[in-house]
Amino acid sequence: MKVYKIAVIPGDGIGPEVIEEGVKVLKKVAALDKRFQFEFTYFPWGCEFYLENGKMMDDNGMEILQEFDAIYLGAVGYPGVPDHVSLWDLLLRIRKGFDQYVNIRPITLLKGAPCPLKDVKREDIDMLVIRENSEGEYAGAGDWLFKGKPEEVVLQTGVFSRKGTERIIRYAYETARHMNKSLTSISKGNALNYSMVFWDEIFEEVGKDYPDVKTYSYLVDAAAMFMVKQPERFEVVVTSNLFGDILTDLGAALAGGLGLAAGANINPEKIYPSMFEPIHGSAPDIAGKNIANPLAAIWSASQILDFFGYQDLGEKVLKAVEQVMVEKVALTPDMEGTASTSEVGDRVLFLLSEIL
Ligand code: NAD
Ligand code: IPM
Ligand code: MN
Repeated sequence: MKVYKIAVIPGDGIGPEVIEEGVKVLKKVAALDKRFQFEFTYFPWGCEFYLENGKMMDDNGMEILQEFDAIYLGAVGYPGVPDHVSLWDLLLRIRKGFDQYVNIRPITLLKGAPCPLKDVKREDIDMLVIRENSEGEYAGAGDWLFKGKPEEVVLQTGVFSRKGTERIIRYAYETARHMNKSLTSISKGNALNYSMVFWDEIFEEVGKDYPDVKTYSYLVDAAAMFMVKQPERFEVVVTSNLFGDILTDLGAALAGGLGLAAGANINPEKIYPSMFEPIHGSAPDIAGKNIANPLAAIWSASQILDFFGYQDLGEKVLKAVEQVMVEKVALTPDMEGTASTSEVGDRVLFLLSEIL
């Protein structure tokens, strides 16, 4: 029987709490379906590890991870370790080191999910954000000059390579074509007169190979407004690293909250393992209380199933997530329930055993 090796990095804050529920779901699916097995290996990397060892992961961490079929990550970052240190040494190191240049973040308003918009039709919020995940504003390039002096200047350089920009835009066109949906590019060519002008040009250029795909192009400020006012405008969306980060938290707010939003960091060539995670952070304000919503982590677990080619199972996990919100028997406080993290996970398992 096929055995999938999953590296689990629960990480910080609520990371371990929500990942535990996702692992439970994956184990249950494997047990019920019987086509394959999962083998989970846990890594204690994160801020506590840093405080003990002065680093966020073992020196040979990337070599170790390379051997796995997928990485399942909770959240990284906690007060006590500067965020730019913790994130660059673990989460961003994995995304970049494994060239996970596609970040897929679905924003779909499932039935029963809370939505702050009035008069919205549920089906109007259904977009797939494809975020560039390897460069752009996250290139880590810059300088800090004249530190502490009156003439102090800092530079944070956005790096947009032809290869990096073309490949994400092409991936998005392929996805839109495959899904028979429109493709919207979100950029900012009016003010960002190098990077986003280049982005827009490449969006047009690559589009010549996809005359069948209907396209739209928005400036990011207007796009943020339209996401709230007329979310039905968006189907498949492609955008840069930073804009994608911000817009997907906005999208999460529209589609049930951060406790429900999932993301897949994909290396499409499969040279390196891909990584699956909820898009939220370690939520220090609620950590350790067993009240974090595990549904985002469970949705990312469903993305693992999709990634391995079991879309039928991925859909069923998503159905169970939807069902849990519809029946409202067990929901965490962010969804106006009183259940604990583990109770929500248990309820998803129960529903899964009925669905599968
Ligand atoms: P956050 O996503 O951790 O929290 C924002 C708000 O959303 C908080 O009020 C939190 O309680 C709530 N929230 C988030 N996830 C929730 C869940 N599953 N259930 C219920 N409520 C939830 O963002 P932040 O507070 O800006 O960041 C905290 C730390 O996490 C920082 O160190 C940040 O750098 C890091 N971070 C990591 C990741 C990641 O690992 N992928 C993502 C975002 C932020
Ligand atoms: C996310 C997070 C990360 C990002 C941070 C923690 C570096 O906000 O995954 O959305 O900006 O990509
Ligand atoms: Mn983010």
